[in-house]
Amino acid sequence: MTETAQAPAGRCPVAHQPTEQLFDEGYFANPYPLYDRLREEGPAHKVTAPDGSTVWLVTRYADVRQGLADQRLARHPKYNRDGYTGIPLPDDLRVMLATTDPPHHTRLRSLINAAFTRRRIESLRSRVNEVVDGLLDDMAAGDGRADLVTALAAPLPITIICDLLGIPETERGTFRSYTDAIVGTDAERSAQGCRDMVAFLKRMIALKRTEPDDALITGLIEARDQDDRLTESEMVGMGFMILIGGYDTTLSMISSGALALLRDPDRMAELRSHPERMTAAVEELLRFEAPVQNAIRRFATEDLVIGGVDIPAGSAVVLSIGSAGRDPRQYECPAQLDFERQETTHVSFGFGPHFCPGAQLGRMEVAVSLQKLIARFPELAPADDSLRYRPGFTFRELSTLPVTF
Ligand code: HEM
Repeated sequence: MTETAQAPAGRCPVAHQPTEQLFDEGYFANPYPLYDRLREEGPAHKVTAPDGSTVWLVTRYADVRQGLADQRLARHPKYNRDGYTGIPLPDDLRVMLATTDPPHHTRLRSLINAAFTRRRIESLRSRVNEVVDGLLDDMAAGDGRADLVTALAAPLPITIICDLLGIPETERGTFRSYTDAIVGTDAERSAQGCRDMVAFLKRMIALKRTEPDDALITGLIEARDQDDRLTESEMVGMGFMILIGGYDTTLSMISSGALALLRDPDRMAELRSHPERMTAAVEELLRFEAPVQNAIRRFATEDLVIGGVDIPAGSAVVLSIGSAGRDPRQYECPAQLDFERQETTHVSFGFGPHFCPGAQLGRMEVAVSLQKLIARFPELAPADDSLRYRPGFTFRELSTLPVTF
């Protein structure tokens, strides 16, 4: 039990006004000082999120981990009494992994889990190696300068997701343009991107009915047609979730992982001389710079107490994974990278029923990318300090990472 879990119900005060503007440019550039402050001030804070909605932000590791698995924190918007509606989603995206709870969610998860078996992911390893080699060849052929986001971190996951779903080569440009719109910061474009993507996925489903292959969309169709297990909308939602779940996250981890190593020459040298430590390094980098900084919002299905703070039923609750990874109650010297850290139970892939189904794939893509990158470019260095992060509350993501080599 931690200090937080032992606190008596209802006693911890909320130390600041919800109207305070906490999530500004400084936060996007470096969220950790704010988390440090909030964690010390209290375990849960009523704050105004960047989109203007009011949420309870939970900051301490033990509470975040517990909250991720707590069935009383539901995803379904019907529990929301805070008035937040978010980006208007097309009807076909109303029921998907992100917006359902057990038992409906369990049914959807069993299908996606079947698609993400360890064997299937391992079978993608040679493809990941091949794609990374090709991207690094292109980079090496340039003038000794590159943006690691556009050269490696973005094209790798999108290529692998397209392979996984079975998107034909000729359609990948279109797929990519919709993806970029969806994950962008313009709400209008994002909503349009969602509508376009739904139409696109429906077209792909129709195509795979006439031209089946051994990729995931065909697998989902077969699961549906044999057992009547998935509706058309559920299939669209599944494709959509894989895309949203697997793109920004992996992009973010490859780029911020590379940056963290570039900023810490000792750890970079350690990995160069001990490449076998890469597996441990990826876990530590996930703790250190969680791509999903703040988990998808949940809603309290009843009055509950988190870390001693009363949360009324219907409240929106955001569990801060980024803050949990830097909690000194859980990790010694959390602002330091340590590949031999004993405490490795990070929650950067979530915890509980929504635990990331793509965790093994994400880990593999990040490990292969970083391993090959540092082996191939011994002189790799940041080109300048003008780094920009996309303004976002859920994802922490570099817009560019200029390097020389
Ligand atoms: C380093 C890479 C990745 C990270 C850090 C990551 C992180 C996460 C986290 C934290 C969640 C849970 C969010 C919550 O509970 O609020 C999640 C869910 C999910 N992720 Fe990942 N992810 C990564 C890669 C991937 C990949 C490669 C895929 C698929 C190709 C994927 C697909 C999904 C899906 C479909 C969900 C929703 C699961 C559900 O709600 O049941 N992720 N991911």
